[in-house]
Amino acid sequence: MKKFGHFDDARKEYVIQSPRTPYPWINYLGTQAFFSLISNTAGGYSFYKDARLRRITRYRYNNVPIDMGGRYFYINENGTVWNPGWSPVKTELDEYECRHGMGYTVITGKKNGLKAEVTFFVPQDYDGEVQQVVLTNESGEAKSFKLFSFAEWCLWDAQDDCTNFQRNFSTGRVEVEGSTIYHKTEYRDRRDHFAFYTVNDSIDGYDTDRDSFIGLYNGFGDPQAVIDGKATNSFADGWSPIASHYKEITLQPGESKTLVFILGYVEMPVDQKFEADGVTINKVKAHAMIEKYNTPEKVAAGLAELRAAWDKLLGIFNVDTPDDKVNRMVNIWNQYQCMVTFNLSRSASYFESGIGRGMGFRDSNQDILGFVHQIPDRARQRLIDLAATQLEDGGCYHQYQPLTKKGNSDIGGDFSDDPLWMILSVGAYIKETGDWSILDELVPYDNDDSKAKPMLDHLTVSFYHIVNNLGPHGLPLAMRADWNDCINLSCFSDTPGESFQTYTSPKFAAEGGYSKVAESVMVAALFTYVGPTYVGILKHLGKADEAAAAQAEIDKMKKNVMESAFDGEWFIRAYDAFGKKMGSSECEEGKIFIEPQGFAVMSEIGKEEGADIKTLNSVDRYLNTQYGLVLNNPAFTKYYVQYGEISTYPGGYKENAGIFTHNNAWIICAEAYAGRGDKAFEYYSKIAPAFNEEISDLHKTEPYVYGQMIAGKDASRFGEGKNSWLTGTAAWNMVAISQYIIGVQPDFDGLRVDPSIPHEWDGFTATRKFRGATYQITVKNPEHVCKGVKKLTVDGKEIEGVIVPVFEGGEHTVEVLLGC
Ligand code: GLC
Ligand code: GLC
Repeated sequence: MKKFGHFDDARKEYVIQSPRTPYPWINYLGTQAFFSLISNTAGGYSFYKDARLRRITRYRYNNVPIDMGGRYFYINENGTVWNPGWSPVKTELDEYECRHGMGYTVITGKKNGLKAEVTFFVPQDYDGEVQQVVLTNESGEAKSFKLFSFAEWCLWDAQDDCTNFQRNFSTGRVEVEGSTIYHKTEYRDRRDHFAFYTVNDSIDGYDTDRDSFIGLYNGFGDPQAVIDGKATNSFADGWSPIASHYKEITLQPGESKTLVFILGYVEMPVDQKFEADGVTINKVKAHAMIEKYNTPEKVAAGLAELRAAWDKLLGIFNVDTPDDKVNRMVNIWNQYQCMVTFNLSRSASYFESGIGRGMGFRDSNQDILGFVHQIPDRARQRLIDLAATQLEDGGCYHQYQPLTKKGNSDIGGDFSDDPLWMILSVGAYIKETGDWSILDELVPYDNDDSKAKPMLDHLTVSFYHIVNNLGPHGLPLAMRADWNDCINLSCFSDTPGESFQTYTSPKFAAEGGYSKVAESVMVAALFTYVGPTYVGILKHLGKADEAAAAQAEIDKMKKNVMESAFDGEWFIRAYDAFGKKMGSSECEEGKIFIEPQGFAVMSEIGKEEGADIKTLNSVDRYLNTQYGLVLNNPAFTKYYVQYGEISTYPGGYKENAGIFTHNNAWIICAEAYAGRGDKAFEYYSKIAPAFNEEISDLHKTEPYVYGQMIAGKDASRFGEGKNSWLTGTAAWNMVAISQYIIGVQPDFDGLRVDPSIPHEWDGFTATRKFRGATYQITVKNPEHVCKGVKKLTVDGKEIEGVIVPVFEGGEHTVEVLLGC
């Protein structure tokens, strides 16, 4: 077992020491409008706001070899050609290092005494990627070499760019002005934006035509111009426009040279697009942008500003536990991943092509849980955008497009869990901020302003959408899918090519599109978990009757679950469209599923009868593995058409008995809730990426961020991770560790402090900024229990219960003594 780098916690960086990571290990640059993906060898691409419609540079997904397309610097010293990031030339370097930090990446390569250190970042409030190249002659002799930069333009619409070649090969246009190469394809006609690539120094040549630079039969690894040691000054005219600067450099021993490159994006008002000749780009804005970062001093200031912004975001919640790995996950990487997930949703990663899905209703609502403490204002806006795509009856479009913010009718609605996440996320927002005014905000239904109602109304229809759509056992109808996209109890068909989630079977067409028999126990348990938040809101608003009515529905649901969905040792998963149990000991395969269990335990369904502990023990017995909890067991080996997509996956992958790290968090929360801190921590440490660093060669994906899935025990690649970065796992594991294990949980009337930790811990400290005040929390565990607050003092005064009150600012000391 092997690792490929190490954490540098003081600098909040992961340091990669070998370019041959088991998969490209990436980072994200940008947090506002201009975004870049960058791998540890400088692969990746940039886009403005929308990864499909405004793609700035080109990238080749699923390419052979992997990770082709990026921003590359080539050095040719007397015929030895190399890249500071090793790829794509792949000349062996004498030294290599990549540091991925908070919104920046530094890649350093050294060859024959020449060192090249490249820092990449997107400054705050800036639509461009800054690349600072520092070249240092560390040898004892003078060195003369040639430097080439390289970026390949994407023709804006990424989908069109990789399909519509009959047109695209004839549209490319550029302009060159001094050391700046402008990309202006379609600028004259259908666009008001262009891009540029510049360097803050004179150049000795350039290339803007890909085939001239690379050579038609060469690749990124052996560009002809670099091999020849000279740019061709080519001018793109159709085909594929690129931008490459060429510079001849001589350095004396010990001498350094710093160059600043900027890859920028500019939008222009339509009437100011051109100079008087009507052809030349009006470059006023571009010049101003270039001016902003064209010296090393300005770059240093931009970097300092970026660091300060991240320090502020990450300073809101911090822990110091006896476990370094927990500290680095909580204080740095998990919070960072939550912010990236907020910004990118599920659009662009090395597993999401940026041209696929829109913003998911359930995904985006769950993401809020992970970042609401960092950027409550943006969370509020996101909640309003989401609620505006809801339908009047509480149903939801499953996805919406970020640019239009309109529900996506291709995918439609009727995913049974969607409305509940809205209650959870709005609840989380209010608990964090105390901003009850969001409930009065007028928010449209179906993006139609004439149908606007207060946000509270959205929560009410969400809650009753479940209540109004129950099946024969009084459990929520499963509809097209619940949280598990691959359990499609209504959308099954034998006809090849039909969609699992959106196909409407003629059998159910008359019933509104989905089975009125298939029921989801997972949604039932989610309802009883989320419902109390809705009741709590109503109570706070003094709506006692409505609160009592809602509570009665929750109680009824719990009773129905216990009566029809408790299998003796765990909760079943569903009833299928034929009224048969799914996820029961009666089933041949898929006898137990993870999803309903955690929410049922935290709702205390059947607690008096010991259902909670039996359930948790069953999860441990049947789902627990060395690398985490599998989704179901045994994996499906046969194809069960009536279940939809789930059994299409080979056993051990994805929703068919993969370790879906997102729902592992629900069990971690439930174990902590039940007071079993040791188990909670065991599960947490199996999937938290920092704990898997030592097995990076098996785990494959980045050891600093969660992936969606780890292959389960039924897979031949048991333990291998996939789909890193953009996953609900980030938010839910942040919740699990911070609110359930560390146990600092915002509530309507204060900050709940009720840890559930490994008994070995002597305690920990935490700092939490909450509603304008700072809480310095010290937890002591002299009796080595997992859970149980024996004494809680706030500013020296003992208080009843575990909820620390809200203060008007200031710093407050919270001391917690655990024990029996
Ligand atoms: C993916 C989807 C998410 C879904 C999960 C389980 O992560 O983004 O919406 O809940 O898969 O199918
Ligand atoms: C989710 C699931 C995936 C499924 C997809 C659409 O992303 O994770 O397994 O294929 O939804 O069906």
